Amino acid sequence: MSNEDRCSSRGRDSNRYPFPAYPNGWFRVAYSDELRAGQVLSLELFGTRLVAFRTVQGTPFVLDAYCPHMGADMGVGGRVDGEALRCPFHDWLWSGDGRCLEVPYASRIPARAMTRAFEVVEKNGILMAWWHSEGEAPQWQVPDVDAFSSSGWREPVVKHWKVNARWLDMNENCVDQAHFRYIHGTLAIPATQASHDGHVFRAESHIRQKAPGGEAEGCLVTVDHGPGFQVVTLAGLIDTVLLNTATPMDEETTDVSFMYTVKTEGHPRKEKLAAAVVDDLVTQFHNDLPIWENKSYWSRPMLCDGDGPIGEYRDWMKQFFTEAPGKEKTP
Ligand code: FES
Ligand SMILES: [Fe+2]
Repeated sequence: MSNEDRCSSRGRDSNRYPFPAYPNGWFRVAYSDELRAGQVLSLELFGTRLVAFRTVQGTPFVLDAYCPHMGADMGVGGRVDGEALRCPFHDWLWSGDGRCLEVPYASRIPARAMTRAFEVVEKNGILMAWWHSEGEAPQWQVPDVDAFSSSGWREPVVKHWKVNARWLDMNENCVDQAHFRYIHGTLAIPATQASHDGHVFRAESHIRQKAPGGEAEGCLVTVDHGPGFQVVTLAGLIDTVLLNTATPMDEETTDVSFMYTVKTEGHPRKEKLAAAVVDDLVTQFHNDLPIWENKSYWSRPMLCDGDGPIGEYRDWMKQFFTEAPGKEKTP
């Protein structure tokens, strides 16, 4: 073990993770129903205080929270006024693209009155914002996931966790084939096949599990679209899709949410089974949780030939880092 690896041993210091905390990509800032027309949300993501608001007409926006005038947090007491946001302190009016539209008591708006605005898209019932450490424009689109808009699929169930670990520890589970056996109780270690193309990484594992009356085979496919949006499909006794959206809050904390849907096509037996499947997936998440929250991060783990494509996944992930001062780019 190298000295560098030793110094990243567990401890709440900045050496726990030897790579930047905030990769570039689309990240969930809220579910659609958490931000109704006229509402304002205060957010703490990417180590940054943000404000989200939805205009009276229904358009969602995300801005830096601290007002450029005198620094009030617009997520605390700010209010929607038509299609813009009023700061609570001196009533300046901010548009969703970051421009100041009005200073109620001044004859002219200061020339530099701008705040940072984020690109936002609303898909699959989720508001996603584009984070880029150097302010570059979005480089890909968030996909629509058919299961969340097709008939025959159950009303989605949403679960939320605040996890004391970085998103990478969690997302790389999809290629950590040995842990399926020892954490999730599969009957054998599945062979995980991986491929990637640009911002998309796909992993597929064929798993055997205990089931009522014997054992069942299933196919687990995860497709990552950048670091913040992972679609997990589990086909077997019953088809299940979950969206894993993990948004960095600060250097060590991640806001993780899973949104599950199950294909029941209205069959009462499948409806019953669906609830059990979601309960089981939540239990599986809780099996992972103490590992993630207490593990260290080795940039050069001692991998063996049965470990699966973990190195390939980390190599793919490097493309999302452009902030590098003082940190390795390499996950
Ligand atoms: S601090 Fe926002 S208007 Fe003054
Ligand atoms: Fe896992």
